[in-house]
Amino acid sequence: MSDFDTDLGSRIPGFYRLSISARRQELHARAALSEDDLNTLDRGGLDTATADQVVENVVGVYTLPLGIGLNFRVNGRDFLVPMAVEEPSVIAAASNAARMVREGGGFIAEADEPIMTAQVELCGIADPLAAKERIEREAPALLRHAHLALPRLAERGGGPRELEVRAGTHPGRVIVHVHIDCRDAMGANMVNTVAEALAERLAALAGGRSGLRILTNLADRRCVRVLARVPVRTLATPGLDGAAVRDGVVAASRFAEDDPYRAATHNKGIMNGVDAVVIATGNDWRGVEAGAHAFAAASGRYRPLAVWSCAPPAAGASGDEAATGADLIGRLEMPMAVGTVGGTLQAHAGARLAQRLMGVTSATMLGMIVGCVGLASNLAALRALATDGIQRGHMALHNRSVALVDRQREEASAAVQKAAVAVNGRADRC
Ligand code: MEV
Repeated sequence: MSDFDTDLGSRIPGFYRLSISARRQELHARAALSEDDLNTLDRGGLDTATADQVVENVVGVYTLPLGIGLNFRVNGRDFLVPMAVEEPSVIAAASNAARMVREGGGFIAEADEPIMTAQVELCGIADPLAAKERIEREAPALLRHAHLALPRLAERGGGPRELEVRAGTHPGRVIVHVHIDCRDAMGANMVNTVAEALAERLAALAGGRSGLRILTNLADRRCVRVLARVPVRTLATPGLDGAAVRDGVVAASRFAEDDPYRAATHNKGIMNGVDAVVIATGNDWRGVEAGAHAFAAASGRYRPLAVWSCAPPAAGASGDEAATGADLIGRLEMPMAVGTVGGTLQAHAGARLAQRLMGVTSATMLGMIVGCVGLASNLAALRALATDGIQRGHMALHNRSVALVDRQREEASAAVQKAAVAVNGRADRC
């Protein structure tokens, strides 16, 4: 259950101007933070001893800044969004764009059932189409066998749902997909377990041998879809009215639709927001990245994951009025293989705290919010590109981090000099 107080909301004007401890007070007012939580925020949520249990050859831990994405309202509910990212301006830009979308009523999001897909490759098949028929006839028994491999998942309402056979793509090869409802887990381990549990039966039915047995990261049955309506007046910048900015964003979106080189960068901007939340919540961002780009290219041409258009003119509006006053509409669709249980969460106190701050109660809810942050990041980037360019805001924040590093270097070098004086002083005395 979430302990996030939605009445206080995710809109906290002036949050960026507060000290870190005052920002934590604001969080505390919305989600109870214990002493342990504060330690977690200070230390990043993973100590070296725990890290040693998670991966191999550990010599330490690597940390990232954790900030809060503000102003997010999704399906009528407010969310504070933890974001772990090293790039300046990503969190500020997403929060700013979320504020504009909020003025239009907030994001509307929906998610597919949490279906992940196991792939079993069958090789050396003399007659792939006949093999496909034999496997399809046995599908109910194969699904029962898959269920037995994941007894605890069925107790949570999930389990293998459907078997699909692909034949005829390559000579001698048949590929079997098992679609599995993973509920609140990302599901990689469960899916791989099913792939391995079924492989030999499938190979026997097909009259060949089993090849690879692994999930696909092209999780196209686990997509999120997000819609944002941005009132045109909120888009205005000094020197440009809202309609001009809206038209610039629509033109930038069209450029991404027309040109894969631009689409790659457009999607990178989306992933700035997506990855930051996926990382903060302890999820596998490589999997989400792989799924996003494979989905973007699924039509045979690499395409943008989000597009922007003008709202259709309001009923009764005159031509000119409708054209200048129309809202900006954004739509995003992408696979979203994230979980709220299992995986890194067991080991990573920071990821557990991030999910608690967010108040998410299911993987599908988390996925929808991640999609909203992706769309917000995209809006912020396109609005900047269509007006001032991104360098002004970006460099202001970048210079701030450079200034901090310079200050730290100066302090460190002053400390070294002081230590050297102390050591030399002692040496002189020897
Ligand atoms: C920079 O991290 C992301 C952008 O390049 C995205 C875009 O061009 O849409 C600004």
